[in-house]
Amino acid sequence: MQTTAEATAMQRALELAQHGLEADPNPRVGCVILDAHGDVVGEGWHKGAGTAHAEVVALAAAGEAARGGTAVVTLEPCNHTGRTGPCVQALLAADIAEVVYAQADPTPEASGGAATLAAAGVTVRGGLLADEARAVNATWTFSRGAGRPFVTWKFAATLDGRSAAADGTSQWITGEPMRRAMNARRARCGAIVVGTGTVLADDPRLTVRDAADQPAGRQPLRVVVGDRPVPASARVRGNDGRFLQLPGSDPRATLESLAAQGIHHLWLEGGPTLAAAWWRAGLVDEVVCCLAPALLGAGPAAVADLGISTIADIDRLRLVEAEHHGDDLALILNPLNTTKEK
Ligand SMILES: NC(=O)c1ccc[n+]([C@@H]2O[C@H](COP(=O)([O-])OP(=O)(O)OC[C@H]3O[C@@H](n4cnc5c(N)ncnc54)[C@H](OP(=O)(O)O)[C@@H]3O)[C@@H](O)[C@H]2O)c1
Repeated sequence: MQTTAEATAMQRALELAQHGLEADPNPRVGCVILDAHGDVVGEGWHKGAGTAHAEVVALAAAGEAARGGTAVVTLEPCNHTGRTGPCVQALLAADIAEVVYAQADPTPEASGGAATLAAAGVTVRGGLLADEARAVNATWTFSRGAGRPFVTWKFAATLDGRSAAADGTSQWITGEPMRRAMNARRARCGAIVVGTGTVLADDPRLTVRDAADQPAGRQPLRVVVGDRPVPASARVRGNDGRFLQLPGSDPRATLESLAAQGIHHLWLEGGPTLAAAWWRAGLVDEVVCCLAPALLGAGPAAVADLGISTIADIDRLRLVEAEHHGDDLALILNPLNTTKEK
């Protein structure tokens, strides 16, 4: 039975968790320490891989007041030594009497924290606001279950579905407000992926920009897939060490390689050939279509051949949200059938 103080503390822990970086390999976690009377004596959140976990930060803030108290945390305390020590040991060392957590840890090497705490005599309860906690780490949670990153495919198109003009130019189809909105979404991903075709045609930077149009402090990995060489002068290379070319054409191999680098959310920016290959492999989980009120009449479609020759085989998507940015419309969509190979 959860107390009101614990429910309030979990709401606060969820708020704290959201100070963390979505693009970080680690999940976003918040923690509130209540003393034996149910008063808040410490708060913490995880700032990202290699830094102290939320429980450790909150315990440090609480000091001696944590003794006999309750730790309220959005994710089951970890049980393993990664870049930092296990939170379970920190909680036991602080003499915490109860642990209330929201989401069970789906990571095999980090899970088991609840059982270890219970075996050591701590009262442990899980599941309080678990759905809300999963939503805070939606793509991280997805990647634990699916064993690969969550893939968002974003493209810009005209009303007639063109993603470039007949001469291959495509910058820019949408206006500045849409590009700013997409920049913010991009920043929440661990990697941006394009094919060699897009790099050779557009020479994009693929960086996240700040309000002054300067590169933001933390950049997603810029990944180019395909065998053709990326020119030494290509802007995508940058000089921050965040560029990677992955040769080959197997999307699953690309996802596996990026998952191994801690990427749990990937932003696929095209072009039409690469997007079609990933779509046909059933590896697109979300679509962001940036639609401009404009016509080209000729030029490549937003996506290449999907192997559909008759209307009965049409691929439909579910509209989740529609956003206006300037004169443009962003449609956020979910594929309805993502597991087919055509
Ligand atoms: N409007 C938009 O949102 C948008 C976005 C991006 C691009 N574009 C436009 O799209 C055009 C470029 O289109 P594109 O289709 O050539 O570019 P692309 O899809 O970025 O690149 C295609 C290349 O990706 C490589 N590749 C890697 N895995 C693959 C797979 N599984 N299947 C097929 N190819 C794979 C191949 O290169 P290798 O031969 O090197 O192996 C292939 O030629 C440009 O005009 C650009 O302006 C528009």
